[in-house]
Amino acid sequence: MTLIAVDRLSKHYSGVAALQGVSLQVAAGEFLALVGPSGSGKSTLMNLLGLLDAPTSGTYLLAGEDVSRLSPARRAAVRNRRIGFVFQGFHLLPRLTARQNVELPLIYAGIGFRARSQRADQLLERFGLRDRASHLPAELSGGQQQRVAIARALALEPPLILADEPTGNLDSATGAGVLAEFRRLHRDHGLTVILVTHDRDIAAGADRRVTLSDGRIVADESTVELRRAA
Ligand SMILES: Nc1ncnc2c1ncn2[C@@H]1O[C@H](COP(=O)(O)OP(=O)(O)O)[C@@H](O)[C@H]1O
Ligand SMILES: [Mg+2]
Repeated sequence: MTLIAVDRLSKHYSGVAALQGVSLQVAAGEFLALVGPSGSGKSTLMNLLGLLDAPTSGTYLLAGEDVSRLSPARRAAVRNRRIGFVFQGFHLLPRLTARQNVELPLIYAGIGFRARSQRADQLLERFGLRDRASHLPAELSGGQQQRVAIARALALEPPLILADEPTGNLDSATGAGVLAEFRRLHRDHGLTVILVTHDRDIAAGADRRVTLSDGRIVADESTVELRRAA
């Protein structure tokens, strides 16, 4: 099944073309790495795919539904239900505990106090953060903050995870752990994962590698075939 179908998507920022006619299809269950030099439009594309922003032109079908012309409120509602977004800088709310951060999407979804604190505790447990539930982000290491951010992204069990350089600020061991967690979710739960990364090894671990340059897709390769050719 095609989860994402993007056709000639463009995004201009006050005259600057950050994205220029990108077309891309992603099947449900794919694990895709998005690579390219700094400024090539990776975050712009992720923000459009993640419904954090609307395109200047082009269409975006998510699970068959045209989501390219939704109102901001409707966009947020679709995002909350269908997409887990892991930001580069984690974007945890500094005054909320780890548990409260994980509960946020559940609050937006209208899930009651008892159910959502249970769900948050379950997720924190799964990510080895049970004893950190009541800590503020500033009291956690980078790797722990990242795991809280991933737990939050997964709170509503979205079919799609978008992660913008999720290992960018982490040491290599912690980064490898985060990647292993994405792979596990992909393998065990059929999650579709799109990951922006500068790390060649991480990109090589994905099933498919899409390269952006100057706002355009310049390569779209199956890493399985790349490995076979090597
Ligand atoms: N909010 C913005 N306002 C103006 N220009 C932007 C904005 N966001 C991104 N850009 C520009 O769009 C281009 C692509 O940026 P970005 O998508 O962040 O690239 P990447 O994530 O690959 O480094 C860059 O030239 C960047 O300066
Ligand atoms: Mg970026």
